[in-house]
Amino acid sequence: MRIQVLTLFPELFERFVEIGLVGQACKSGAVTIEPTHLRTFAVNTHGQVDDSPSGGGSGMVLRPDAVVPAIEAAKAKDSAAKVVLFTPRGKPFTQKIAHQLADGVQKSGGGFIFICCRYEGIDERVVEDYVDLELSIGDYVLMGGEVPAMACIEAVTRLLPGVLGNPESIRQESFEGPLLEHPQYTKPAEFRGKKVPDVLLSGNHAEIEKWRKEQAMQSTLLRRPDLFIANNAPQCEVSVALIHHPVLNKQGEIITSSITNLDLHDIARSARTYGLERFYAVHPTRTLRRLSEKILEHWEVGYGASYNPNRSEALRHIAVVPDLDDVIVDIEARTGKLPKIITTSARDEAKGITFEQMQGRIYASNEPHLILLGTGWGLVPEIIERADYHVAPVKGHTNYNHLSVRAAAAIIFDRLIGKR
Ligand code: ADE
Repeated sequence: MRIQVLTLFPELFERFVEIGLVGQACKSGAVTIEPTHLRTFAVNTHGQVDDSPSGGGSGMVLRPDAVVPAIEAAKAKDSAAKVVLFTPRGKPFTQKIAHQLADGVQKSGGGFIFICCRYEGIDERVVEDYVDLELSIGDYVLMGGEVPAMACIEAVTRLLPGVLGNPESIRQESFEGPLLEHPQYTKPAEFRGKKVPDVLLSGNHAEIEKWRKEQAMQSTLLRRPDLFIANNAPQCEVSVALIHHPVLNKQGEIITSSITNLDLHDIARSARTYGLERFYAVHPTRTLRRLSEKILEHWEVGYGASYNPNRSEALRHIAVVPDLDDVIVDIEARTGKLPKIITTSARDEAKGITFEQMQGRIYASNEPHLILLGTGWGLVPEIIERADYHVAPVKGHTNYNHLSVRAAAAIIFDRLIGKR
């Protein structure tokens, strides 16, 4: 892999190419790193490569008439090379991109031209016409692109065949799979009163493997719930119950609201989309429950089932029950465990936790969870009291907060279960 680096500080790379695994890869010829001083392409005899920003402002911008000739000279040595610019505005550099870059080199045979900016960056016309990829190594601003270029060189070089002694070690590392790496220990077996976990000294490889998997899962959930959620589905069952009694009306009085056909259809479709186990429509009045069941029969076994099997699939997951306790009994009968109850409302409640926190708890749990939604003006305080968790309200950027329960349900499912 040939990497030509355009930089104002080529001397920064002098030791970098000699030391450690990058040094070995350079010696073995697996990698060639060729820093070029951007001043070689200065626009005048004063070595000028930058100028003040058009339109005013502080700092200096790299001039296109210095950078483009530098890129062209590098391209003359490696016409298939990809031009990569390091900038905080770039795409976040990830292990996936490192693999793509390493694979690309092996397929095309072309290397890279890395551009390291300093100052306020580079003239946009260069970016538009000459740069293939802009990369950022994180949401912070460094003094230049040299350290990001070195980070990228290290990440890509170690993926090239023959560079790491044991390619197996790549497979087990953080960011290679859906989990961060498990914690590691070494000798001594006890250090300042802290012991290496017994299982690691047991010699039982199956137990060690199991322990490592559990530790990896816990540490991913704790440190990077976003990674865990992007790569896993919840292991526990989640259901939703739509409560029609007791709920509040506009005056804060306890009322019974009606079951609506729209709620049944729309919440069932959202629940199915997000893989919820059941959608319980909770209503105390026998005639309304019977009416709902008749509607559902039409879709489950009547003409609706053949007319629209997709709708039928969603509606089959509805259970119409008289009371919240019936929901809890049903979940316990099915799973052998009482559900953890989650409530949410449009009002800010003191014991509220964030959707992110709640999502982490659901993904980490093997207990069933039940989301309670209130019709009318929302759940009564006694039901909110019964909940294990109360999630902060769904909010936009206005003071208007009158989502229909159907719309709120879809947003809540997405925030608690949806893939990111
Ligand atoms: N140059 C300055 N800061 C940077 C960053 N975070 N990533 C890539 N290049 C940069």
